Amino acid sequence: MGNVYHLDLDKKKIRGAKIALLPGDPFRSQIIAEKISETYGTVNEKLAWKREFCTYFAEIKGEKILVTSTGIGGPSTSIAIDELAQLGIDTFIRVGTTGAIQDHINIGDVIITSGSVRLDGASTHYAPIEFPAVAHYEALNALIEGAKKAKVKYHVGITASSDTFYPGEERYDSFTGYVLRRFQGATKEWQKLHVLNYEMESSTVLTLTASMGLRGGCITGVINRVGIGKITKEALKTGQENAIRAATAAVECLL
Ligand code: URA
Repeated sequence: MGNVYHLDLDKKKIRGAKIALLPGDPFRSQIIAEKISETYGTVNEKLAWKREFCTYFAEIKGEKILVTSTGIGGPSTSIAIDELAQLGIDTFIRVGTTGAIQDHINIGDVIITSGSVRLDGASTHYAPIEFPAVAHYEALNALIEGAKKAKVKYHVGITASSDTFYPGEERYDSFTGYVLRRFQGATKEWQKLHVLNYEMESSTVLTLTASMGLRGGCITGVINRVGIGKITKEALKTGQENAIRAATAAVECLL
């Protein structure tokens, strides 16, 4: 097989890598690759950057790793997973950021998603809505071990994964300020149902990987909490750093 179109990668370029770390932000691919190099004394290399898909090659204890950004939301995430799977990747770990909706979860904590509420559209093109968006047990265990190893406060549970940042996460500070009736009161309901957080890609990652027989997991750093207005730079830095530290340590458990 040749080049996959959107990621601009081929099998030769990825050198037999089997595990991919998946940030949303393309600039975070470099941050993660450099963190891996710093921690394990290995080199990293930028392989491709097309649209929102930026891929780095890195190594952890002799294991070849890709770091590929997915962009925001389901459609671009589905392309990243599908094309990486075509190239032979079998383990997919989303490393992102999130907004917590439970009181006991603080900025800087990480959330390890055991399963996602599928508030997206892209995943329904791969498996019907009745199909669960669940993490692979090996990925889940590895992320828990990784968080422990990195000494990061973690929570394991269900994530509401939305196609939209504003109405789907019941935000009223949008252009119109209007949230469809179907989402009004949704946050309260998710809280009652013990959902931990909102983010925008896990339902796609976990539905696609589970339905394809591949390993999928998701860890996100908390940068925001319901009721707190704007996301601050410090919150972003802490949440992002903690998720990256835990995810990198988790990879060691997946080798
Ligand atoms: N990502 C989201 O989707 N929501 C947040 O509040 C923070 C990050």
